[in-house]
Amino acid sequence: MKLSDIENLEIQLLLEAVYCRYGYDFRNYARASIRRRIIQFMQLVGAGSISEMIPMLIHDEVFFGQMVKEFSITVTEMFRDPAMFLALRNKVIPVLKSYPYIKVWHAGCATGEEAYSLAILMEEENLGKRTTVFATDFNDSALEKAKEGIFPLENVKKYSQNYQNTGGKYSFSNYYQANYGAMVVKSTLKETLTFANHNLVTDQVFTEAHLILCRNVLIYFNKELQEKVMQLFDDSLVHGGFLCLGAKESLLYSKHHDRFREIDAKNKIYQKIS
Ligand SMILES: C[S@@+](CC[C@H](N)C(=O)[O-])C[C@H]1O[C@@H](n2cnc3c(N)ncnc32)[C@H](O)[C@@H]1O
Repeated sequence: MKLSDIENLEIQLLLEAVYCRYGYDFRNYARASIRRRIIQFMQLVGAGSISEMIPMLIHDEVFFGQMVKEFSITVTEMFRDPAMFLALRNKVIPVLKSYPYIKVWHAGCATGEEAYSLAILMEEENLGKRTTVFATDFNDSALEKAKEGIFPLENVKKYSQNYQNTGGKYSFSNYYQANYGAMVVKSTLKETLTFANHNLVTDQVFTEAHLILCRNVLIYFNKELQEKVMQLFDDSLVHGGFLCLGAKESLLYSKHHDRFREIDAKNKIYQKIS
């Protein structure tokens, strides 16, 4: 057996052990990226091999929690890809305005910056009071940060610029308070948001949504898992509901492609038509 085959076997056994012991299923994450994460974690904890970590994972829940944190890449920002938010404002919001109540599912919200951006957008469009944004992730420590709504003040310049590029109507400073080097988001924004744990791989339909945003999450999954999650989104959207994916993600090669029409190809916005 080649060294690389042995390493593959170790990865497979480790992921199987994690699934059997904790129900977290990383078996269909994109292999190159999950391998990188496992090796990084192995170096971080000073383990001599991948298989050496298997008994540690099985017997020590804290160790497992550390590993999940390492597997979850929570890079995000407010109004990330402003052109997408501008497209939401111009092409999706006018349709959502016709509903008496709007449910948004934001899947893979990380530390919440994108969810707060959505809350701002809805408030500016006078939809804040009739919108609920369910923002979910499988990483509990990221969700805790999201609930706090406190972000580094040094990011404000970038966020403010992003906000202006989304067609923002006011000054970004309307939406936060500066407090001891941190930006604390306006508390009324939290009324629109509900943060909850949901695992896209193992959990069921979350809600009947008018809009689902899931950006920069599917890139970590293999094709099979992407299709499974796409089915979950299809089942979770009302007829005519909208789906927004990340810049590097697409419905183009999915078997669900025919069930949606493209609203904005560049910004990966689709509408369920069947
Ligand atoms: C790079 S962040 C994307 C954050 C945000 N959507 C954005 O585009 O800025 C990816 C997030 O997906 C989450 N994630 C990965 N696998 C997941 C799963 N199976 N279920 C739920 N969330 C998952 C990670 O925990 C992480 O917070």
